[in-house]
Amino acid sequence: MVMDNAGAVRPDFIDGKRKRLLINGQWVEAASGKTFETSDPATGEVLAQVAEGDSADIDRAVTAARQAFNGPWNKWTPADRQMVLLRLADLIDRNFEELAALDTFDMGAPISRTRASRHRVLGMLRYYASQAVTKCGETIPNSLGGDYFSYTLKEPVGVVGAIIPWNSPLTASIWKIGPALATGCTVVLKPSELAPLTPLRLGELCLEAGVPPGVINVVPGFGATAGSALARHMDVDKVAFTGSEATGRKIVEGSAGNLKRLSLELGGKSPDIVFSDADLDAAVPGAAMAVFSNSGQICSAGTRLFVEQGIYEEFVSRVAQFAEQLKVGKGADSETQVGPLVSGDQLEKVVGYLDVGVEQGARCLTGGRRLVESGYEDGHFVSPTVFADVRDDMRIAREEIFGPVISAIPFKDIDEVVERGNATSFGLGSGVWTRDLGKAHRLAKAIRAGSVWVNCYQAMDPAVPFGGYKQSGYGRESGSQHIDEYLNVKAVWIKTD
Ligand code: NAI
Ligand code: MG
Repeated sequence: MVMDNAGAVRPDFIDGKRKRLLINGQWVEAASGKTFETSDPATGEVLAQVAEGDSADIDRAVTAARQAFNGPWNKWTPADRQMVLLRLADLIDRNFEELAALDTFDMGAPISRTRASRHRVLGMLRYYASQAVTKCGETIPNSLGGDYFSYTLKEPVGVVGAIIPWNSPLTASIWKIGPALATGCTVVLKPSELAPLTPLRLGELCLEAGVPPGVINVVPGFGATAGSALARHMDVDKVAFTGSEATGRKIVEGSAGNLKRLSLELGGKSPDIVFSDADLDAAVPGAAMAVFSNSGQICSAGTRLFVEQGIYEEFVSRVAQFAEQLKVGKGADSETQVGPLVSGDQLEKVVGYLDVGVEQGARCLTGGRRLVESGYEDGHFVSPTVFADVRDDMRIAREEIFGPVISAIPFKDIDEVVERGNATSFGLGSGVWTRDLGKAHRLAKAIRAGSVWVNCYQAMDPAVPFGGYKQSGYGRESGSQHIDEYLNVKAVWIKTD
């Protein structure tokens, strides 16, 4: 039994053996024989050699997924699929410490954070289990006269290509696998090359739970090869993608060949708006952790911190003080609150923005640099950073940084902040801190984003939809809308006379 206050123990899954692809219920080498390394971003240590899937392997996996879709899986009843989801939830519950530690070692998130996702992860699977037996079509009255009866059937879309990023491999995988199992789809899951270990272990647990071979396939590999092959594949019915806006565009292009369905959950530059009437003792940590959680590597992070003029100086300096007391460290340490960035590339990107912020005239209140002192030197660590006096036209106010960087911007009044908050090509998350109910409702309506959090940030529940407006993508995850993304609607007409 691991105590919550203990650090993460390296999971047995990291056993020095090569990690292979899961295709049709079998662990297989890549057709090319190639492998790649995945490493721990806190130490640079190589964790595993992983078989590197490319288009040939994607092709094999799609064939397996198609056969499974047309095979016995097709005959599973809703109750059968519900049971398999519940068994998977129980298995994940029993193995949760290992899964949390795999995420932590492979992508750097603090173990306190990955452990804390337990309730959500299990809730997701149990929610999908409930949807398996309750999603239904409708009987629809028509106006053709008494002799026609019309109703709808909801049927699985088919083979789903799931392409996920590295920032939360466990929840991202379940967000794709769960609705597929609930509806009777099959999946080819392409994890990020930076964090493939949790999805592979999850594939193993799916088999153990009794998911038939070929229903869930896991093919790690690179985006330009494996990911692109999946997006383009003519026998894939839908792609569910989470990742960057640039890659989202490529997936849209790649999908054109067979006009496959898409759901896209892309980036953000979300406004987090603090009014002077807010409970500032709650808003300071709330606004800080809206960005510093997961080292800022969250698509809906509240990175544009708009603060009402009268409290601006006080508020931003309190956020900076809060940032300074955060414990930055290796994800495996139980006290760590902010872990490393996932990779050298991500580090370079974030440090680049720190320089750009200063060059364009922002005032750095705290942080603003890579950590290189003892204990940090081998990892990709950046100190939590608060930039004040940020103008809307600065790059740090416009572009997704995906690091622990707050851009704090003063505002005058509600109309102005609505306009400026919405002046972005993104529309994923948003926050409002106020004690004025009228203001809260006005903003909830006026903000063009898929989620508005009032006096909180990043609240998530399996039953509440999450997704983007504008270039943050389309489609919803969680909620009954999510299940609909995996279903076709068929209209049936019966002439009864
Ligand atoms: P990415 O969007 O390139 O990678 C996400 C997934 O897409 C990975 O599995 C990758 O292998 C795959 N992929 C890459 N190119 C592909 C292609 N041409 N066709 C099909 N699949 C492809 O994101 P990356 O490079 O890891 O991170 C770059 C930036 O993207 C980050 O700095 C951040 O700003 C943003 N990002 C946003 C995420 C979100 O949750 N919205 C998640 C990850 C990154
Ligand atoms: Mg890794």
